[in-house]
Amino acid sequence: MNKKRLIPLIFLIGSNAAMANAVNDMFEEYKQSGVSTYSEQSGKALWNKEFKNKKTGKPQSCASCHGSNLKQAGKHVRTGKPIEPMAPSVNSTRYTDVKKIKKWFKRNCKWTIGRECSAQEQADILTYLVKQ
Ligand code: HEC
Repeated sequence: MNKKRLIPLIFLIGSNAAMANAVNDMFEEYKQSGVSTYSEQSGKALWNKEFKNKKTGKPQSCASCHGSNLKQAGKHVRTGKPIEPMAPSVNSTRYTDVKKIKKWFKRNCKWTIGRECSAQEQADILTYLVKQ
């Protein structure tokens, strides 16, 4: 299954202390919601998984706006506005603010999947994202 235990999260602590703090807070919450493992692979799969738009029937995924190569800038699929790269290795402002992470998880999961992402899904996706 390639699942890893949720703690310890020391692996996250690289040069970016702000990210490590925010991400550790997020994982603490996921743990309290009963999540005990995380999987970078599941996160990646979900990131690229296509869901049908309820109105247009068109396929859409997280990658529709953010792209599959997280080191490159994305582009909002509706407005065409550029979106800064999601990979913290090239964008040090990523995942440094718990409020921002929560706000966008909620909004983007609803937009893309049609529902909020579970704590497990968020833990997997966030694991994938922070390692890029
Ligand atoms: C319709 C376009 C769109 C789609 C689809 C989309 N996002 Fe986003 N996302 C955005 C925008 C716009 C922002 C905010 C601007 C920014 O942070 O650059 C954002 C920001 C985020 C952030 C905040 C990052 C941070 O720095 O804290 C996360 C996390 C995120 N998205 C996750 C997802 C996930 C998971 C999916 C798929 C379920 C997804 N997004 C799909 C447009 C999108």
